[in-house]
Amino acid sequence: MLLFQTNMTNAVYHVFSRENTRRTKRAKALKNARKERFHEMIGEYRNIPDVESMERFVQHGNTSTLGHSENVAWISFLANEKLHLNADEKTLVEAALLHDFYLYDWHDTKSDRTVRKAHRHNHSDIACENAVERFEIPKKTQDAIRSHMWPVSIKKVPKSKEAAILCMADKYCAFVETIRMSKRLGLK
Ligand SMILES: [Fe+2]
Ligand SMILES: [Fe+2]
Repeated sequence: MLLFQTNMTNAVYHVFSRENTRRTKRAKALKNARKERFHEMIGEYRNIPDVESMERFVQHGNTSTLGHSENVAWISFLANEKLHLNADEKTLVEAALLHDFYLYDWHDTKSDRTVRKAHRHNHSDIACENAVERFEIPKKTQDAIRSHMWPVSIKKVPKSKEAAILCMADKYCAFVETIRMSKRLGLK
């Protein structure tokens, strides 16, 4: 009887253990596929000199503007998938990657309050104009970029699902980068 019970326990243990390994493998494969899809989406922009130039500008803490933009793109992409928000992936990732494509270091505006205030409200429009000029992005992507500073720019309200996700992801990343917790929380 004791031998029978031990054999049964071992058999059940093996079934569970095999199922766990299978689940872990499946989760890993999904995670890798997700990352690959994301890198494919941002890949076409990564070698463009103007996009690369954002690496030279500091955004928050020790994160560059390019690092911040990739963080916002990644969090937007992840939130869309994990929360089943069904936003258009291409619009979302493109808008997130280019939302701060204003191409200067905003710290240079720090010494002058008026210039700094102007940057806060205008940089989304400058980023959008730069993106349109270089990439001819569609209207929906443009609107998402222009409204990413809501509610700081109170009149530029996000009007699409993509714009709302980008707006939230931007706030989250700015906070995490400012307190220098990016690495711990899976950001750049
Ligand atoms: Fe911004
Ligand atoms: Fe931003």
